[in-house]
Amino acid sequence: MKKLKDSIFQQLSKVADQLNLETYVIGGYVRDLYLERPSKDIDVVTIGSGIELAKAVADSLKPTPRVNYFKNFGTAMLKYKDLEIEFVGARKESYQRNSRKPIVEDGTLQDDQNRRDFTINALAISLNQQHFGELLDPFNGIDDLEKGIIRTPLDPDITFSDDPLRMMRAIRFATQLNFEIEPTTLQSIAANKERIKIVSAERIIDEVNKIMMASKPSVGFKLLEETGILAIIFPELQAMKGIDVVNGIGHKDNFYHTLEVLDRIVPNTDNLWLRWSALLHDIAKPPTKKFVEGLGWTFHAHNFVGVKMIPKIFRRMKLPLNEKMKYVQKMVQLHMRPIVLSEDIVTDSAVRRLLFEAGDDIDDLMTLCEADITSKNEAKVKRYMKNFKVVRQKLKEIEEKDAVRNFQPPVSGELIMETFGLEPCREVGLIKDAIKDAILDGDIHNNYEEAFQFMLTKAKELGLKPVT
Ligand code: CTP
Repeated sequence: MKKLKDSIFQQLSKVADQLNLETYVIGGYVRDLYLERPSKDIDVVTIGSGIELAKAVADSLKPTPRVNYFKNFGTAMLKYKDLEIEFVGARKESYQRNSRKPIVEDGTLQDDQNRRDFTINALAISLNQQHFGELLDPFNGIDDLEKGIIRTPLDPDITFSDDPLRMMRAIRFATQLNFEIEPTTLQSIAANKERIKIVSAERIIDEVNKIMMASKPSVGFKLLEETGILAIIFPELQAMKGIDVVNGIGHKDNFYHTLEVLDRIVPNTDNLWLRWSALLHDIAKPPTKKFVEGLGWTFHAHNFVGVKMIPKIFRRMKLPLNEKMKYVQKMVQLHMRPIVLSEDIVTDSAVRRLLFEAGDDIDDLMTLCEADITSKNEAKVKRYMKNFKVVRQKLKEIEEKDAVRNFQPPVSGELIMETFGLEPCREVGLIKDAIKDAILDGDIHNNYEEAFQFMLTKAKELGLKPVT
């Protein structure tokens, strides 16, 4: 038996008794209490009006918190200290097959537990003084918690049909908690997969992102694939699965390779968008795949094609279309660059160009590239990692010396126009690019004097004369 330690529970108990309302803490908070995962979201269910209880609890607290009421749903929420407490009246709920509108009636605790998603999420602890702290576990949820099993309380076809997002929640919890989905529940997900289509993209992406932020996201993506959900919600990722063979030559399975890269990047970053970059870095391998005699399998320009695919994926999945997407595009575009660099003799000029293009995201790019080395050949991996060290060192040296990371041209377009009496024209662009290239190639240093001299020489070649 676990103890409800926070003093808020005594307060809830007192008020519930005063109102003579049978009241419980239920769901995720109880699950997390047993799993010893700290949680700040408390769901309170009462046999009666959740709204009335919320109001009375708020009035009893100092300072009195504001209560948000959701009358249509019969729920209320208040924030107190760092806790978010939601109140709801116990409900008996069933969905009509042909309508998305549930029929909701008042119910008992058992009715309310029946309509929850998983046995481990249906646990309730009594708050009334007489039974304070007693666990109510009608579906052996504690047993499932101990064994690490995700199982629906009712026939899974009914539970999933009530809210098809639960199919993804099952997979998400299995990933986060490292639990197994019980076989009948898993089969039911595969059988009901089409129902995911009625769920909004916003709710789906929330679950995908929770899988992305878990410590081993591959678990979730493999389950999504096995149950057939992935093909519906993320066909581009599904398309990466499989190996084609021509003349006895195959290529690696890009789906499993991608998942390996994703798992490998996890310990090195909590940045969701860097994790998305890992998931999408090879997304254009299927559409660019070609077998070329003498060369084998090629994926020509898959990084550039990937960049073009990203807005469509982000729009459909309701991911942000802002600088976060641009960042993912940049990572995907540049993901092969450090590897190419590390295979060759690392020249200053190549490093300067990479620094210039990656800017402040250079460290993230290196993190992605290191995760991308998934070869089974240990000697090869060792060699790459050693070369990456050289690249990182070189990046540091060059940045200290030349500061090209946030490159600002030392000679502006305005100055070029002023010097040669030009209106905006092609020549101004040519001179600007030539100065940039000369700096990146190391022909001149990144300073005003050298850039100005270089500009004069370049302009002369173009037949331009300074106006004095
Ligand atoms: N619940 C449900 N079906 C859903 C969503 C939620 O039955 N589709 C129930 C579960 O009992 C769950 C509780 O509502 O425990 C609270 O849901 P929520 O806050 O979304 O999730 P948690 O279980 O608390 O987990 P997390 O905070 O990790 O999302």
